Amino acid sequence: MKRLIFSASVLAVLTACNGGSNKTNIELVQNMMDQPMVKSQGWIPEEGDKTQMRVPPKHTVSRHQYVYKYADDIAGADRQPNPLAGQMGAPVLEAGRKAYDIYCAVCHGHTGAGDGSVAEKMAVKPRNLINADAKSYTDGRIFHAITSGRGVMGSYASQIPDVETRWKIVNYIRTLQK
Ligand code: HEC
Repeated sequence: MKRLIFSASVLAVLTACNGGSNKTNIELVQNMMDQPMVKSQGWIPEEGDKTQMRVPPKHTVSRHQYVYKYADDIAGADRQPNPLAGQMGAPVLEAGRKAYDIYCAVCHGHTGAGDGSVAEKMAVKPRNLINADAKSYTDGRIFHAITSGRGVMGSYASQIPDVETRWKIVNYIRTLQK
């Protein structure tokens, strides 16, 4: 009997903590109930009109974000060094070939001659990537075409988000030119 009364009173104390939906709870562990955080959709009390969810300050960049410096600097783009220069091993070229065949060959053709399957219907023809003119392009210039687009050719940055893969395509195009 004693035990029953004891359990009942513990239960009563515990349920009393919940003051119902319209009343403030009794705070047993106060520093957990009373937190300085603001909910993501809430307002910062001291700065009435500011939401908790802030936009990042101007010019900040997330840690792994790639920032392409030469979007508006063609001369700089042409001169940018190829981080995979001279890396003509099978893994690099195979990855380059795969991406080229998926993203570039429809227009520039599997051999790079500019005769891809949709080229015939295009008013401005895809560039021949294996003639003497194309051989004179710097690696940076080809990379720039992929990253920012060129003339009527759009950017392929979103299709090929991995920057290294874009350089692998550049190296692969060099093998097509041989
Ligand atoms: C939808 C068709 C199309 C696809 C796909 C395409 N290109 Fe192009 N590309 C073009 C056209 C058209 C031009 C010529 C643009 C102009 O002269 O206005 C061009 C031009 C170029 C040039 C010459 C740039 C310069 O500086 O003169 C390079 C290099 C190039 N493309 C590489 C690529 C690579 C690499 C890919 C694959 C990632 C690719 N292109 C995918 C249509 C395409």
